[in-house]
Amino acid sequence: MNIVLTGGLGHIGSRFLERTPEILPNSHITLIDDFSTQRYCSLFNLPKNLSYTLIEGRVQDLDLNEILKDQDYAIHLGATTDAAGTAKDPDLIFKNNLPATEHLAKACIQNNTALIFPSSTSVYGVQEGVVDETCENVKPQSPYADCKIQEENLIRSYGNQGLNYCLARLGTIFGTSKGMRFHTAVNKFCWQAAMGKPISVWTTAMDQKRPYLGLDDACEFLAFVINNKFIDNGLYNVVTENYTVRNVVEAIQEHIPSLNVEYVDSPIMNQLSYHVSNEKLKIQGFEFHDNLHSSILETLRLLKPNLKQ
Ligand SMILES: NC(=O)c1ccc[n+]([C@@H]2O[C@H](COP(=O)([O-])OP(=O)(O)OC[C@H]3O[C@@H](n4cnc5c(N)ncnc54)[C@H](O)[C@@H]3O)[C@@H](O)[C@H]2O)c1
Repeated sequence: MNIVLTGGLGHIGSRFLERTPEILPNSHITLIDDFSTQRYCSLFNLPKNLSYTLIEGRVQDLDLNEILKDQDYAIHLGATTDAAGTAKDPDLIFKNNLPATEHLAKACIQNNTALIFPSSTSVYGVQEGVVDETCENVKPQSPYADCKIQEENLIRSYGNQGLNYCLARLGTIFGTSKGMRFHTAVNKFCWQAAMGKPISVWTTAMDQKRPYLGLDDACEFLAFVINNKFIDNGLYNVVTENYTVRNVVEAIQEHIPSLNVEYVDSPIMNQLSYHVSNEKLKIQGFEFHDNLHSSILETLRLLKPNLKQ
């Protein structure tokens, strides 16, 4: 199996690379990354039986028709991903993510390569009750989420021209990897807690639910799509569980009881509350296994190795 993995040095991609020999044995990865986030460390100590080729460059600048020859799948993780940090400068998102996705989608059609695209559950925005894939009234609250919607629509429109794809709305990732980042909720809280800083919680957010996705569930989902040729031009929520901020804070306090909680306002996050259903994917036979508590302990232990169980 030949797989192109864009953005493979990032938070999700670096874990996927570690796990590829186990979850997708006999596959070759063509890894594309522009090193814009400098995650050289993601290439350290990779499994000896991982077969991969590295291409350094921006997806949108590469001759993908050459690269995608004989490639069965393209997993497109390469993107600018800092939703909060780019809220005031939408160009940072749109000028990178849209052309990359368009260039890749066109090359996938030319080469009969199936495209797996990670969208985000943040496209739903504030919603009443439990929201699923049939929701038509999406309310993206940031340029990042806006751009995801535009990329989804672009991919659907290329579906009419022969593109085979799977659209996956991923929950916010928790869990450790070599290329992990600390700008999203669970990891940011773990960082603050381990550094002895108060956790900054968005005002009013303590008991609001949000969708999260464990990193191993994310990798196993990608393998599930490939192993089951699960390319039906459909849309799937990929969410381990919906948690409140209180759930996350209490899980950290099990290990760091002295943790302080400080309430702050954030321009894009303080309005968000939504509960996302993962039933559609479960009905297809996919099982979620990740556990918030053990992932938080693993993350805290990277920073405080002496923490007890
Ligand atoms: N991490 C999350 O919580 C989360 C949640 C939902 C969806 N997603 C989506 O999953 C994908 C991967 O997320 P992540 O957390 O691993 O991101 P990340 O920011 O950790 O990694 C992205 C990688 O892409 C590379 N990159 C950026 N632009 C590129 C380009 N034009 N060409 C080639 N490489 C490029 C970066 O150098 C980086 O290594 C993104 O599309 C993201 O929006 C992530």
